[in-house]
Amino acid sequence: MTEDIRNGLDSQELDLNKQEQACDSQGECATQGDDNEHKNHRVKSFVIRAGRMTNAQTKALEELSPKYAVDVSSLERLDTAAIFGREAPLVVEIGFGMGASFVEMAQKDPLRNYLGIEVHPPGVGACMMLIEEAQISNAKVIKYDAFEVLTKCLGPESIDILQIFFPDPWPKARHHKRRLVNPEFLKLVTPLLKHGGNIRMATDWQEYAEQMLECLNAAEGLENTNPSGGYIPRPEWRPLTKFEKRGERLGHGVWDLVFKRV
Ligand SMILES: C[S@@+](CC[C@H](N)C(=O)[O-])C[C@H]1O[C@@H](n2cnc3c(N)ncnc32)[C@H](O)[C@@H]1O
Repeated sequence: MTEDIRNGLDSQELDLNKQEQACDSQGECATQGDDNEHKNHRVKSFVIRAGRMTNAQTKALEELSPKYAVDVSSLERLDTAAIFGREAPLVVEIGFGMGASFVEMAQKDPLRNYLGIEVHPPGVGACMMLIEEAQISNAKVIKYDAFEVLTKCLGPESIDILQIFFPDPWPKARHHKRRLVNPEFLKLVTPLLKHGGNIRMATDWQEYAEQMLECLNAAEGLENTNPSGGYIPRPEWRPLTKFEKRGERLGHGVWDLVFKRV
């Protein structure tokens, strides 16, 4: 199983390495997609690629979904207490990738409920395998666009901690509109946070870190937990993620931010 998860990780890493290249090779298709998205929809922060599922991940999606996946296809408001079978502070993570750091955090923090949202099917399968291995009941996953889930399925002041670690950087200027963190996104998520609740971000892409900081500083209702402003030192509570390790290998820095809803 570990090997399967590792294969999945590598395939996802490959996706990121090829993100720019793929956007180019999909050239016209992507451009047309963007145009359609402009006309009818919000521009998506992800591109789902077919294939690359291991047998174990496929099996996990089939067999473990009833246990660990939350169905949001009706896009109705979620009853998180019913989902977890208890009232507890809620942590929502967007884009958990293959889920290793998400599951590790949930395992080390049994008094909170962890809801992870990810669109990458191999990642969702791998994450459910890790939840099953860890035998924990405080972690659930949603395989859906987080923007939709946040807009429609989660109510005001329902989240204690919202975390986004190493979101896709979309490095090319013409793809910056695909970046998850922007003023529109913060306007949507701020009211979902409880007063005193936190939004946590990390990235290894300096220019995206600067964008995050600028948007967070400008967002109404959010305050930097770093009294001197700016980034915080790497927090102990955040396990090393797959993409952080990749960034380290490439010699990237890492920028962490925690803002509080006031
Ligand atoms: C670069 S990866 C980082 C994964 C993980 N957080 C880590 O650090 O290893 C970003 C992830 O965000 C996911 N993602 C991007 N936009 C999303 C969205 N709107 N809803 C859910 N997941 C999304 C992608 O599928 C991808 O797995």
